[in-house]
Amino acid sequence: MNVGGEAYRTIWLAEDRRTVEIIDQTRLPHEFVTLALRDVNDAVQAIRSMQVRGAPLIGVTAAYGVCLALTADGSDGALEVACDALFGSRPTAVNLSWALQTMRKALAEVPPSDRVTVAYETAAKIADEDVASCRAIGEHGAELFADLIRNKEREGGTEPLNILTHCNAGWLATVDYGTALAPVYTAHDAGLAVHVWVDETRPRNQGAALTAWELGQHGVPHTVIADNAGGHLMQHGRVDVCVTGSDRTTGTGDVCNKIGTYLKALAAHDNGLPFYVALPHSTIDWSISDGIADIPIEERDEREVTHVSGLGEDGAVITVRVTPRGSPAANAAFDVTPARLVTGLITERGVAPASAEGLAGLYPERAE
Ligand code: MRU
Repeated sequence: MNVGGEAYRTIWLAEDRRTVEIIDQTRLPHEFVTLALRDVNDAVQAIRSMQVRGAPLIGVTAAYGVCLALTADGSDGALEVACDALFGSRPTAVNLSWALQTMRKALAEVPPSDRVTVAYETAAKIADEDVASCRAIGEHGAELFADLIRNKEREGGTEPLNILTHCNAGWLATVDYGTALAPVYTAHDAGLAVHVWVDETRPRNQGAALTAWELGQHGVPHTVIADNAGGHLMQHGRVDVCVTGSDRTTGTGDVCNKIGTYLKALAAHDNGLPFYVALPHSTIDWSISDGIADIPIEERDEREVTHVSGLGEDGAVITVRVTPRGSPAANAAFDVTPARLVTGLITERGVAPASAEGLAGLYPERAE
């Protein structure tokens, strides 16, 4: 996608074809800064500190983290140590372990002397496949939007299609295009009238900071709302459809995404509105069937709840406390939306019901 008219992915190789470059997402929307990752510790730190974030991008960064580790030491031991460190950097998005497994499998039979080359080739393939998946998600989701627009027009509606999204499941969360926002970009580029309600997404404000920024860069009409506003907008007919991303989807269609997603799904259900979740296959955890029981939910530092950052009067970024000193805070980063609240899953292979059967229909090779 374009930033100031220049095409960017969220992760790429520097001219030396070894150093990994990223956009530092902790600096957005106020500053656009790129960073170089030179060793595996840089990659672990970038994931942990959320300089890169979003399930697909975490996976690709982990894959490149393996490349960086092998550049220094191609031994089996170094590979294991690197995979363990990367695996522990964030627990919820299954794309991380999926990418590490993919790297391990590709490297299994490769002698240490050839590992660096194979590792970079495999990481690039994972990145390119993510881009292709997101493009396809965009096509399938945009068809859905076109249907909803036709229905809306038949009923006399004149407003654009109002789409509510939570967190950031745009191109910044992937290598390019995004998951939940890919259909928005595809529809917008095709001339369909869309408008996005952007949940601010406390505590880290990925909606207010990242989704709003990338939609703005692409010229997509959008409005940032407080996290608690969605239910009210739905009751007043101002939301037509909700679309979010996913960090881990069970083989039965339960979806784990940024904290607060579940409440939006409940409100959509109560208002008879479609609630779609967009995800590539790398986000499906085929080994589990009960999202609430089986998905590890990341607990993050309470400081993310007690403090907020933003632009001060003098144009410098400042951080301020919003809670009384001494009030403890809790910070679960994700929640699970049960499949029964999900209208459909938008994947690179098409749209399916959020169920074991629905997923088996799309991925018959995975059906047991
Ligand atoms: O904590 P984050 O910012 O990594 O959480 C990101 C999300 O919850 C996204 O919705 C999810 O990763 C899907 S991204 C395509």
